[in-house]
Amino acid sequence: MSRLRHVLSAQQLVDQELLGELFSSAAELEQQDKTRTLELPLRGRILATMFYEPSTRTRFSFEAAMQKLGGGVLTAENALDNSSASKGETIADTVRVVSGYADAIVLRHPAIGTAQVAADVSPVPIINAGDGAGEHPTQALIDIYTIRKELGRIEDLNIALVGDLRNGRTIHSLLPFFCKAPGISLTLISPPQLRLPGKYIRMLQEADTRFAETTRLARVEPADVVYVTRVQRERFSSEAEYDAVKDSYRIDLHVADSLKPRSIILHALPRTTEISPEVDQDARAAYFRQARNGLFVRMALLRYLLA
Ligand code: NCD
Repeated sequence: MSRLRHVLSAQQLVDQELLGELFSSAAELEQQDKTRTLELPLRGRILATMFYEPSTRTRFSFEAAMQKLGGGVLTAENALDNSSASKGETIADTVRVVSGYADAIVLRHPAIGTAQVAADVSPVPIINAGDGAGEHPTQALIDIYTIRKELGRIEDLNIALVGDLRNGRTIHSLLPFFCKAPGISLTLISPPQLRLPGKYIRMLQEADTRFAETTRLARVEPADVVYVTRVQRERFSSEAEYDAVKDSYRIDLHVADSLKPRSIILHALPRTTEISPEVDQDARAAYFRQARNGLFVRMALLRYLLA
């Protein structure tokens, strides 16, 4: 496989050799961080984070990752208002300019395909940190890393995907990984309005990945991984449509107790009501560990792209 330049879609990441390299690098960086023996391979390099949609984890973890590796950060948070976008500048023009100041750009934008638009004009790597209801490939990388770390494998697993499968971009980016791994069986749990789009159903069919669609949360019981998503309010065209589905599912203590003892519960966060706070104490609640892993996986990715 040729070396990755831009990170736009999870399809570019489903390569055993690349995953092996990134994951062992992430584990090594975590160890070095713990023992305070990190080197600074990105000294003098600059990462721009351009966020046209809200973010906490993604932006902070990319920025922390860059700084821990010795690099610097330029940041436009709330970029719709706080950049020249508010004066009518196109993304392509902004990227042409920012790529003259930064060695890589992390971009989040509400419109599907924006990362590709940026990559088409950018001389420096573009990292898609979420393009609307499209993809969020680095989150999926973190999720796969977390599953491996917690359960020791990503094959032969029963995985339940719960919630907003229509709009959840982390789900869309996870699917290519599941299609590649042998022995995966997916249970897609969503209200009818939030079913996985046809494009992704076809992806599963073409890969011969086992899956079943259901509206019933009780179907999480046999899962090794319960991956819960927030209903993506910002993608609905009316409040009424959102209200109709926002409380469809809730993982509470009762549901958690029904899971297998060696299972894990994941969530890219932020959560609203879909996982009760009482569940956090359960050893199977892995979502805060997952968020922490984001730092090291993003360090590994930045080092891979820039060192
Ligand atoms: C996710 C996102 O932005 O897609 N969050 C994240 O990056 N950790 C999930 C979400 O917002 O629901």
